[in-house]
Amino acid sequence: MTTTITSRAVGASLDRLDGPLKVRGTATYAYEWPLDNPAYVFPLQAEITVGRITGVDARAAQAEPRVLAVLTHENAPKLASTDDAELAVLQSGQVAFRGQFAGAVIAETAEIARHAASLVRLDYQARAHDVELRTDRDDLYAPELINSGAETDTARGDVDPALASAAVTLDATYTTPMEHNNPLEPHATIAISTGEGLTIYCATQGVHTIRETVASLFGLDPPQVRVISPHTGGGFGSKAFAHPDVILAAMAARLVPGRPVKLTLTRQQMFSQVGYRTPTIQRIRLGAGTDGRLTALAHDVVEQTAKIKEFAEQTAVCSRMMYAAPHRRTTHRLAALDLPLNSIMRAPGEAPGMFALESAMDELALACDMDPIELRIRNEPEVDPDSERPFSSRNLIACLREGARRFGWERRDPSPQARKEAGWLIGTGVAASTYPVFRLPGTSATIRVGSDGRYSVLTGAADIGTGTWTALTQIAADALEVPVEDVDLRIGDSALPAAAVEGGSSGINSWGSAIAEAARVLRARLESEYSGTVPAEGFEVTAEMPDNPYAPGPLGVFTGAPPPGERFAMHAFGAQFAEVRVNGDTGEVRVPRLLGMFDAGRIINPKTARSQLLGGMTWGLSMALHEHSVLDPRSGHVVNHDFATYHIATNADVGVVEVHWLDEADPYTNPMGSKGIGELGIVGTAAAIANAVHHATGVRVRDLPITLDKLLQ
Ligand code: MOS
Repeated sequence: MTTTITSRAVGASLDRLDGPLKVRGTATYAYEWPLDNPAYVFPLQAEITVGRITGVDARAAQAEPRVLAVLTHENAPKLASTDDAELAVLQSGQVAFRGQFAGAVIAETAEIARHAASLVRLDYQARAHDVELRTDRDDLYAPELINSGAETDTARGDVDPALASAAVTLDATYTTPMEHNNPLEPHATIAISTGEGLTIYCATQGVHTIRETVASLFGLDPPQVRVISPHTGGGFGSKAFAHPDVILAAMAARLVPGRPVKLTLTRQQMFSQVGYRTPTIQRIRLGAGTDGRLTALAHDVVEQTAKIKEFAEQTAVCSRMMYAAPHRRTTHRLAALDLPLNSIMRAPGEAPGMFALESAMDELALACDMDPIELRIRNEPEVDPDSERPFSSRNLIACLREGARRFGWERRDPSPQARKEAGWLIGTGVAASTYPVFRLPGTSATIRVGSDGRYSVLTGAADIGTGTWTALTQIAADALEVPVEDVDLRIGDSALPAAAVEGGSSGINSWGSAIAEAARVLRARLESEYSGTVPAEGFEVTAEMPDNPYAPGPLGVFTGAPPPGERFAMHAFGAQFAEVRVNGDTGEVRVPRLLGMFDAGRIINPKTARSQLLGGMTWGLSMALHEHSVLDPRSGHVVNHDFATYHIATNADVGVVEVHWLDEADPYTNPMGSKGIGELGIVGTAAAIANAVHHATGVRVRDLPITLDKLLQ
């Protein structure tokens, strides 16, 4: 089989097919479905840090007109499974963290529900709490595995002696703060109890993931639960899984059968219900020769997890594959705390990990008196240093060189504090980006062709604002060898063929592979069974995403088992360049220019791809300068739990952001040759900015965010 996708639609800057709906305001987001006679839910939240509820007085709330029900652990329906402590909503009076759901009011309007919720009195017995992450805790532990299933610790060679004997060494600790998932659309659900089953409209990265979770908690067969989500207003990772809000909405729906029950989290509630990024404390030790070649690299991470459910961020995995160093070690240690559950957020692992590693590489370049680009090129590995597998493709050097050329790097004076203009110190910095290439199992697609020559392409994929509607239509059109106008895509509904969640930047890789396979089978059947003519009644085929790409990739190389994931290390790469201006009097940091040069395999749609990478770099700018959830250790409460005080970069913070890519299809990743772009853009940005700040000021900020107080000290 030597079929390759011919490039007609793929690679074209097609306008978003869902654009007109969004511009006209008719794209239905979760909370907006026009359903008759809805009821509204407002949650109660625990007001202690840890302990238990000892008493409930709901009389005043129940006495309010148009209140339908008050739900607490005393009267909540029993769930079929309480294995997942996060989702065992109202199954006991125990309080595991401040803000945990302690009940809910269901009422005829959202305002009444919220008001009545304020009238419910809960009594508590509090216990002493433990919410502080420190490296000197004696109870730090090694989790069995870290997120994405990787090993917790790795060791190659013998790091300590190699560090001790290195000509140049660096030993520095970098920290990143707690940050919260805050997509523009808050988490929102409409749940309807339909006989035995449930229908759920919700903001999600994966309808089938929500369906499986809800079905198991409510003791239903998955087909009894229908989840609908054609448009989602941003994901940030928090919408990859069901969180307590979805369960609470479904539980409330059970109390008012047949009525749609609506629940949207307030922005403040988003800070305790849907995950957050763990703070990290990362010690990096590098040993190198005077020529800049690394001999030793150690990356030791301390971070946290909720006591009731473990999440171990894969912060140091980037140090396993970025650079060649014969002696290497990575470790992850966790503190289990009485806090809300942390989870995946915007390149979990790589985003904080690469801030540390790429800042350290900049420090090493200065110590070796070497250009930071040249230092990275000198440490380019021939194969993945960890698995010793070849890379399916790795164009980091090309990104560094081409990015440098476009940015004008050669004009840079390497000494810090070299440029001043009207009271502003000006500097430039560089850092590398990387993100793994994932394809997730569990995706199938159906393609139906009618005698009118139109193709319906069905799969339960998600569009979280990224462009899935458009990109999958382009892939289907090319795989079918028909114009995009002949393809009708349907996604975002669990009644469609099962699809893996949009997580780990895997969406297009997984869903596109299944669609390409279905198209291949359909075309083969059209020839073998119907002699090339679609029968009057039409026909359809359903196919699973194959373990192996069905055919050689676009470069025509791959020929079969074992799966390429077991033969190759597969990662996307990039180089990011930042120009910063730091005010000499106030320490204020501005970023007039960012430039990213990426190796993300084949780009399906340049217009939506640019938008995703630009968004990722903006996340990175936001991480570098602004985002910081401030936890009060006395209460376990995030005090800046709103958009007035938790700042995410907005237009006024963002200067020129240039996005470029190599557009070289990867021969092994999947039939499209794509690598995934949702998270690559955030990785490395913060280090590029921190490195530029050092270049401008001579001050090395190792603790994010880079606020002006750190520059005035
Ligand atoms: Mo993304 S944080 O892997 O949903």
